[in-house]
Amino acid sequence: MTDTGSFDAQSASAGCPAQAGAVRMTGLEYQKMPSQVYRDLRRAHGSVAPVLLDGDIPAWLVLGYPEVAYVTGHEELFARDSRRWNQWENIPPDWLLMPFVRYQPSVMFAEGDEHRRRAAAITEALEGVDQIQLGRDCQLIAHQLIASFAGGGQAELMDGYAHALAMRVVVQMCGMPASSTDTRQLVNDLRITLDIAHGDDPVAAIGRVAARLWQLVKDKRANPGPDITSRLVTHPAGLTDEEVVHDLIAVIAGAEQPTAIWICNTLLLLLTDERFAVNVSGGRLSVGEALNEVLWLDTPVQNFLGRWAVQDTQLGGQHIRAGDCLVLGLAAANTDPQIWPDAHVGAENSSHLSFGNGEHRCPYPAPLLADVIARTAVETLLERLPDLVLAVEPAELSWRHSVWIRGLTALPVHFTPLAQQPSSSRPAAQSPPSQAMVG
Ligand code: HEM
Repeated sequence: MTDTGSFDAQSASAGCPAQAGAVRMTGLEYQKMPSQVYRDLRRAHGSVAPVLLDGDIPAWLVLGYPEVAYVTGHEELFARDSRRWNQWENIPPDWLLMPFVRYQPSVMFAEGDEHRRRAAAITEALEGVDQIQLGRDCQLIAHQLIASFAGGGQAELMDGYAHALAMRVVVQMCGMPASSTDTRQLVNDLRITLDIAHGDDPVAAIGRVAARLWQLVKDKRANPGPDITSRLVTHPAGLTDEEVVHDLIAVIAGAEQPTAIWICNTLLLLLTDERFAVNVSGGRLSVGEALNEVLWLDTPVQNFLGRWAVQDTQLGGQHIRAGDCLVLGLAAANTDPQIWPDAHVGAENSSHLSFGNGEHRCPYPAPLLADVIARTAVETLLERLPDLVLAVEPAELSWRHSVWIRGLTALPVHFTPLAQQPSSSRPAAQSPPSQAMVG
């Protein structure tokens, strides 16, 4: 990402009067300590803070847990169709955040009955995934990836393990061959669309992703199989090819990036926090608890863009005008002192807002699928490489330049090299991978 990467410690001096004192979402401070930034914003503005997005475009960052729950729970007041934004005349066509806000005819921007129709088809398509088989397939892919670096005694786990695993699993669920050149290009393009990395063109990348998926939909109409895409094209909702393509983009991008980051943020917690470091193998604090703690304290989707006000209204003491943009501060809401006055996070409590809330929340079976993928990835790695340690000091790790996603650029590790074994001798290989992980 360019300078859209984080909150600027300096308040913007100019801009819309309604945004007086707004904080620019730029600078470098945020990546290191987002929780501090949220605390400062909350102290200065309360639970709804005026912010300036890239190019000083005004928006509201919703920081309070009750306020995020309220916004997401009241679609009649705060809706998803970005075409109602009152700032469009100020937004250049090549705006860096365009991939997040440009209206697309997908489930993400649909409202009311149309959203229910699309979301129901996705929910049923995801419900068709057999979670036991999914776990076996993840285990097999995990063993294959680990075998590719286990003999070297060192690895980079972000791209080399978490992204590679999550993408292979997700494309396989959607009915694409997991290890083709196409798939690698797709992974790269998805990263560009979400990361807005230096010099890359996110609009071109999303075009390439769409072209690949148009082909997939065509293939599955002609020859349906036991996979998510086939279940979408044959669903009684009668989705058009265009609708399926847009919804597949939502499913793949929505699944791969956050799940991969969830894996790495959990590994980082396990490798750096002594509560876990000494106890995972001893069984006192489990991988499940680490996964849940990450969703509370270091959640992959930190801020979600967003909702647009349907009419003038009040929120958290701020006057919101019709067409204003609201960014869902999911990470800030999860650590809202109103819900955790002692900054204590319940290990068994999963009422965080990391999967969103309300009509547009992450569709019901998706968090369960993400849990199977992330848990299997982490457990398999720790079983295979039990003496895994970070290869650098935690302070030397760098975070992606994104205020939307909280993920490492790389997770370098060391471990005792394992003698190379053919992947077919691994325990997981005894269960053949399904073609598409379906029930
Ligand atoms: C750690 C993993 C994941 C996280 C943190 C996550 C988070 C989110 C968030 C924050 C939203 C927006 C909610 C809102 O607007 O209120 C969302 C929506 C969505 N997610 Fe996930 N997600 C994850 C995994 C997945 C997986 C595995 C899938 C699919 C297999 C998926 C598919 C979707 C879809 C299709 C939407 C759009 C829903 C709609 O607008 O109706 N996500 N997710």
